[in-house]
Amino acid sequence: MPAIKLAPSILTADFGRLADEVRAAEAGGADLLHLDVMDGRFVPPITFGQVVVEGLRKVTNLPFDLHLMVVEPERHIAAYAGLVQTMNVHIEVSPHVNRTLEAIRKLGARAGVCLNPGTPVSAIEESLADVDQVMVMTINPGWGGQQMIPRQLEKVARIRRLLDDGGHAAEVEIDGGVKAANAAKCAAAGANVLVCGSSVYGPPGTVAENLAALRRALG
Ligand code: DX5
Ligand code: ZN
Repeated sequence: MPAIKLAPSILTADFGRLADEVRAAEAGGADLLHLDVMDGRFVPPITFGQVVVEGLRKVTNLPFDLHLMVVEPERHIAAYAGLVQTMNVHIEVSPHVNRTLEAIRKLGARAGVCLNPGTPVSAIEESLADVDQVMVMTINPGWGGQQMIPRQLEKVARIRRLLDDGGHAAEVEIDGGVKAANAAKCAAAGANVLVCGSSVYGPPGTVAENLAALRRALG
């Protein structure tokens, strides 16, 4: 099994002390930082955008994993060029996804595609050769702290198989409800990047303790 990367999501961090929260994740051994950009249209809440990402770029060396929960993501990607390592767009709002993925790569970033829980695997099947990452939402996006929808792990396993059978090297990321109690199951299903929001920026421990608990759970 490949080494599992942990990607804390700052969505449930304390935004009054965001720089410290991000430094705590880096010091605690995070592999990536997951950034949830929401526009109030694709999902109801509005979070943050380029200005905040630019600010955070100065406080950490962690690679940034950008999750664009916005309509017309192709209009937003250029704003993050040079700031983030991976840009993930939702298939549900990307009618010309292959063009968008190509545009992301041209901007010098890795290209990822995300699927909502209700979106079938077939929606991305024709794009597997064009992605560096497939991100499976194991919650309906919009909020941190929700319970994982366990059936989505079967979808993760199917995507992993399709990638392996096709000889594609893309990573598989899970976003939503990842906790120490289910992290090993996520890895066993074939994911190698785990977004962890409330399980890092929430009880029971400090950011470092919570990250350590997730690592322990992964063995
Ligand atoms: C929600 C976001 C997630 C969120 C996950 O739409 O995409 O990245 O932060 O939070 P948890 O890990 O608490 O489910
Ligand atoms: Zn996310």
